[in-house]
Amino acid sequence: MKERLNAGIVGTGRYVPEKILTNRDLEKMVDTTDEWITTRVGIKERRIAAPYETTSTMGAQAARDALADAKLAPEDVDLIITATITPDVPWPATASFIQRQLGATRAACFDIEAACTGFIYGLSVAQAYIASGMYRTVLVVAAETLSRITDWEDRNTAVLFGDAAGAAVLQPVSEPRGILSVYLGADGSKGDLLELPGGGSRKPATHETVDQRQHYIRMKGNEVFKFAGRAMAQANKRALEKAGMKIDQVDLLIPHQANMRIIQAAARLSSLSMDKVYLNIEKYGNTSAATTAVALAEARLEGRVGPGSVCLLVAFGGGFTWGACLLRL
Ligand SMILES: CC(C)(COP(=O)(O)OP(=O)(O)OC[C@H]1O[C@@H](n2cnc3c(N)ncnc32)[C@H](O)[C@@H]1OP(=O)(O)O)[C@@H](O)C(=O)NCCC(=O)NCCS
Repeated sequence: MKERLNAGIVGTGRYVPEKILTNRDLEKMVDTTDEWITTRVGIKERRIAAPYETTSTMGAQAARDALADAKLAPEDVDLIITATITPDVPWPATASFIQRQLGATRAACFDIEAACTGFIYGLSVAQAYIASGMYRTVLVVAAETLSRITDWEDRNTAVLFGDAAGAAVLQPVSEPRGILSVYLGADGSKGDLLELPGGGSRKPATHETVDQRQHYIRMKGNEVFKFAGRAMAQANKRALEKAGMKIDQVDLLIPHQANMRIIQAAARLSSLSMDKVYLNIEKYGNTSAATTAVALAEARLEGRVGPGSVCLLVAFGGGFTWGACLLRL
């Protein structure tokens, strides 16, 4: 039987748009306050894409950064997986646009949609392809332009989201490096708690769907909140069990950055102190699939983790989906 290859991250990158939207700016747009957003969510500001930017242009920038980090050329890439809920267009895949912008002419391309858990789902797909020997160099891009599906008149959601892109290059690596375990979960019965109702086959775009603001994020925030901390803690536990490891062997937890209180709950339920938790929610807000990818890239840039560090990535999101990925850099 063919030997199973170990997949690991050999490069990371990220891109955030220049424009900053602060809580003070939001105070002028909806009935909210900096104090409410800071204490209830933990966000101070978020980035907003320029009119000429899209999910693929930001994703391509993050991908270039990751390829440079890995010292690889676009032609080396065998597969591009883009995790996004804000594709450039419903189809073709945003990965195809990224391929064109990179000139990664040899790469196969597709998108996956697992909302905020998208980067972790993407890593698991990359790992499976590499482990099977089917592909050698896989680029996972998590990119979102949530500002385009945010209802800027709804204070319940307008304060939460931002735009960003992160990317990782995966290749076969030697033990003990690489992805140690992945756990993925989903519960489709909770899909309507966090959704974008309009524009698909159920409710194709009409003047009516536009008038009813059905092309924006709809969320029952409280219900999501109750579920999220527990789901992330359960995912951490399952990923650690699969790898036969304990939480005190983790150097850095890199959680989905949706709400500071959810992150604190997940850390507490996982018996991890907050000094081992990476946070950048204050400056970027919730960028869905991109949060964990951007955070991993920034944690490496800041020297929070380096070669040999054990990282635990964890997220939850619409679907519902949730999952964790334990890896040694
Ligand atoms: C959205 C969220 C921050 C709201 O916090 P909360 O503590 O649950 O607050 P509630 O929804 O109970 O609302 C409390 C009050 O604040 C108000 N409120 C909501 N948004 C507000 C805002 N931006 N500014 C000021 N007040 C706001 C509500 O209207 C409500 O007022 P009421 O009591 O007069 O009805 C929180 O539920 C959350 O983070 N949920 C998860 C969301 C998420 O992560 N989604 C993405 C998943 S990937």
